[in-house]
Amino acid sequence: MLILTLKAAAQYDEPHRPQLHFSPPANWMNDPNGMVYADGEYHLFYQYYPNATVWGPMHWGHAVSRDLVHWENLPVALAPDKLGLIFSGSAVLDARNSSGFGTAKKTPLVAMFTYHDMDGEKAGRTDFQYQGLAYSLDKGRSWTKYDKNPVIPNTEKLKDFRDTKLFWNEALKQWSVVFAVGDHVRFYSSPDLKSWTKTGEFGKSDGTHAGVWECPDLFPLTVGGRTKWVLLVSINPGGPNGGSATQYFVGDFDGKTFRNDNPPQNIFWLDQGRDDYAGVTWSNAPRGRRIFLGWMSNWDYAQQVPTAKWRSAMTLPRELGLAETAEGVRLVQNPVRETQALRGRKFLSMKNYRLENEMNLDNGGSPLAELELEIDLAKTPATKFGVALTNAKGETYRVGYDAEAKRFFSDRRKAGRNDFSDLFAVKPHTAPRVVTDQTLRLHLIFDTASMELFADDGTVAMTDIFFPTEDFTRLKFFGLKSASQWNVPESVFFTQANAWNLKSIWR
Ligand code: FRU
Repeated sequence: MLILTLKAAAQYDEPHRPQLHFSPPANWMNDPNGMVYADGEYHLFYQYYPNATVWGPMHWGHAVSRDLVHWENLPVALAPDKLGLIFSGSAVLDARNSSGFGTAKKTPLVAMFTYHDMDGEKAGRTDFQYQGLAYSLDKGRSWTKYDKNPVIPNTEKLKDFRDTKLFWNEALKQWSVVFAVGDHVRFYSSPDLKSWTKTGEFGKSDGTHAGVWECPDLFPLTVGGRTKWVLLVSINPGGPNGGSATQYFVGDFDGKTFRNDNPPQNIFWLDQGRDDYAGVTWSNAPRGRRIFLGWMSNWDYAQQVPTAKWRSAMTLPRELGLAETAEGVRLVQNPVRETQALRGRKFLSMKNYRLENEMNLDNGGSPLAELELEIDLAKTPATKFGVALTNAKGETYRVGYDAEAKRFFSDRRKAGRNDFSDLFAVKPHTAPRVVTDQTLRLHLIFDTASMELFADDGTVAMTDIFFPTEDFTRLKFFGLKSASQWNVPESVFFTQANAWNLKSIWR
């Protein structure tokens, strides 16, 4: 009954409502939590406040997907209790029943989350965050909190002590957890998910410390026949274009602690747009895939964005990998191939085409589109080029490449509503190119209120949201003579350009 009620309540047709991305039926959402694959379902839990469209006492909302594209909303999974609010955390399938929470017939899903004791915080204490467990024996539909919580108490009284990501540690043949402690991450291990011992810590003098460290994840990926470990650490504020963003480190994990391959001052960003935060990966994904999902917003303005019934969406699920580049080993990401199921009419298919002037695309008036473009830089005199979205009101969003600066850009300054926050549309967001190939590749996915760019096979990602007062019904290509003269065209040579309309996931 409740499931039907939730579905009926959510029409998913309000202004700015994402049609390709997960968003909650109503009210406030932030970080993705508890992402685990089990019994054919990708679980997505999320930081949720069910009573308002701004942040409030945190619950875990819940949705599941069988294909990483379509989502079914389920009732709230975890609610605050006398130990506190339910902050971010993760879940695993405890196939060996090492926790003892299972039965002969039922394998437990075990979640570890951070309790946040609001009263403790208000009283000026510093030990108001600690880690708790809950388990489910019915495919995540109902959860029981462990009666001996917390399992990792905050004995050192550290103010920021949160965001637990569990993973199976093959080196120790135990469970491990990584979580954020202010300016570093810690690793603990456990035979049973209940009793935990600290094994190491990382990061006090690595990467950026312009803001507090949050929401880490640690996982192995292979590159050139070697295994490398990737550590994600979200940071707020201090992102490359302002506010919240996620940095990553590449190195080794010996089962106890992480060692950075790069000099400590090097900073690598997972996504250089402004709207991809607190992202982590699914546990237990089939065939060893490493699939990532982020919160598509930024603490700079998340609570002010102009949506009426709900606030925030997630990014598309993305497959992560590593690549050897001229600059070293880098994280690469691309939308999961399942996303292609959304492709509808192909409205552009061309090879070796020289664009001399702006060109309107035959996108049928739909803002939902996917473009795969290849540009030959040696044959392209334009200094700035890309794709513009516009509507009848003349609101315009632009994304593309600045060949002079060798940077991708995303410009939402004239893309509609930006009056709700001084921090939303300050300047164009830019990101340096990583590879030096003569062919530049742009893979773009446009939803009603977002753009995701995966450039050069996913070596650069940018995610930005926007709020046009009417949908962006028009799409066009542009090439410009100089970065400062927006009205003087210059040519762009496309070796390939393909584009599709995309179908809504909610219809
Ligand atoms: C990140 C974060 C986490 C915390 C949660 C609270 O966006 O601040 O560190 O667990 O949100 O909702």
